[in-house]
Amino acid sequence: MKILITAGPTREFIDPVRFISNPSTGRLGYTLADKAKNLGYSVTLISGPTYLEPPKKVKFIPVLSALEMFSSVQKEFPSNDALIMSAAVSDWRLKKKYPEKLKEKSAWNLKLVPNPDILKSIAKIKKENKIIVGFALESSHILKNGWKKLQEKNMDMIIANDVSYFGEGNKNSKIFILFPDKTIEDCTGFTKEKLSSIILKKIENIFKEKK
Ligand code: C5P
Repeated sequence: MKILITAGPTREFIDPVRFISNPSTGRLGYTLADKAKNLGYSVTLISGPTYLEPPKKVKFIPVLSALEMFSSVQKEFPSNDALIMSAAVSDWRLKKKYPEKLKEKSAWNLKLVPNPDILKSIAKIKKENKIIVGFALESSHILKNGWKKLQEKNMDMIIANDVSYFGEGNKNSKIFILFPDKTIEDCTGFTKEKLSSIILKKIENIFKEKK
């Protein structure tokens, strides 16, 4: 199986030295990539900036912005069997990026425009034998929002979790894996290692079913 994994945050630059981002560590995506490689799969990891070492023997594609991640995913997806979209993609970018460092000291407003939804656009070109896995990070109504996104983005499974799982997570972090046949797997409190193993096992099963 060939697996494409995205990880980490994206950076949306305001000027050459400032950007909008989020505290994603990339740890789940990197753990998935490492485990998938150890299972013998061919792995491509597209990653926003993190402090992590890319796993060895993985095709590593570093990106900065959501638009860069979007074009890399579009390029790599057709040659892969599965996409795991674990990156925390910025939903917005600056309408205008300033070419020089801003000097104004007074208050000012930033104009943001929405980034393309990578999963949604990939879902549109998805062939039946491909597997798409996404995440839903929610402040509330985890399950309701998770089911909605699973359907909207034509996914084979979604991992819906509460915001406490961002970063390191804790034993009370709510995590559910939702499937299109309406089954739910409760993974509350799982470490990123344990969750990664389960996600890969599920993907392996879906891959066998689709073959
Ligand atoms: O809608 P929401 O941002 O919660 O969806 C989360 C899922 O969608 C994640 O798997 C994330 O990687 C993906 N995503 C995306 N493109 C975006 C924003 C999120 O593919 N612009």
